[in-house]
Amino acid sequence: MVVLEGEVYLFELSCICMSEFVNLLTEERQGILYLTINREEKMNAMNLDTLEELRQVFDEVMDNKAIKGVILTGAGEKAFVAGADITEIASLNEVNARKFAESGQEIFARIENCHKPVIAVTNGYTLGGGCELAMACHMRIATANAQFGQPEVNLGIIPGYGGTQRLTLLVGRGKANELMMTGDRIGAEEAKTLGLVNHILPTKEEAIAAAEEILEKIKSKAPLAIGMVVDCVNAVFLEENGYQTEANSFARCVKSGDYKEGTSAFLEKRKPVFRGE
Ligand code: COA
Repeated sequence: MVVLEGEVYLFELSCICMSEFVNLLTEERQGILYLTINREEKMNAMNLDTLEELRQVFDEVMDNKAIKGVILTGAGEKAFVAGADITEIASLNEVNARKFAESGQEIFARIENCHKPVIAVTNGYTLGGGCELAMACHMRIATANAQFGQPEVNLGIIPGYGGTQRLTLLVGRGKANELMMTGDRIGAEEAKTLGLVNHILPTKEEAIAAAEEILEKIKSKAPLAIGMVVDCVNAVFLEENGYQTEANSFARCVKSGDYKEGTSAFLEKRKPVFRGE
């Protein structure tokens, strides 16, 4: 493979690593990484290997300047992800259950903290760990057949990959309690009314096209500022003072070349050319 520049070299390396995944499909087109959970015969249930592969992908997404955004979906038409793999959950004990939850939380936090936009296209069952995975993404676009739920109580457990926190923040205490205590599934329309999803499109193709449209808009914006939006929105989840994080991040933006370029371009009545520095 011919390598011309450092940045291209990095990108090509990433492609080679990503092609080795067993449970994920990856494809990069025009700066968008299309990431598909690929265990269709198991409703894309996430086993520990899938989680590890997700961790590796998001490490690469962070480092790879060629990737501007990610669309995450599930293989086939029936499921985004129908939860963590119950065959693995069934043999947990008190000690490894804590590790199980903490490592999942850590991987989902990488997604949530990624400075590039990550959009979940939830195409069908989005349950348990699947709902938690979707909630760790920055936005969710559902297909009309999508169903959401946290059915862990049916297995004698609770959401362990951050779902108790993110669901409460997204839909409010009352509804989060109801969903997690009953294990009920809700359809795409109700999920949208609750603020769990941003948009609903009839099919997976249309949902992906809607996600592409959003990412295209974001691509033209200042990359550092997009990263700061991620940090500030996530600061709402932290116990530290989110307003302080906002002020610190605002000041970091003002130190950047993109800030100078954005303000100058406006005043000079031209389009800005952002460099992410
Ligand atoms: N973990 C492991 N395997 C799962 C799974 C999960 N979370 N969800 C589905 N599967 C498997 C099924 O066991 C089945 O495997 P098999 O063909 O080897 O028997 C296969 O995926 C297809 O699922 P099936 O139940 O036959 O499909 P369905 O259309 O009747 O029902 C669901 C689909 C999603 C409603 C149902 O599979 C389900 O309730 N899954 C569990 C959801 C859950 O509790 N998630 C939270 C886990 S923490």
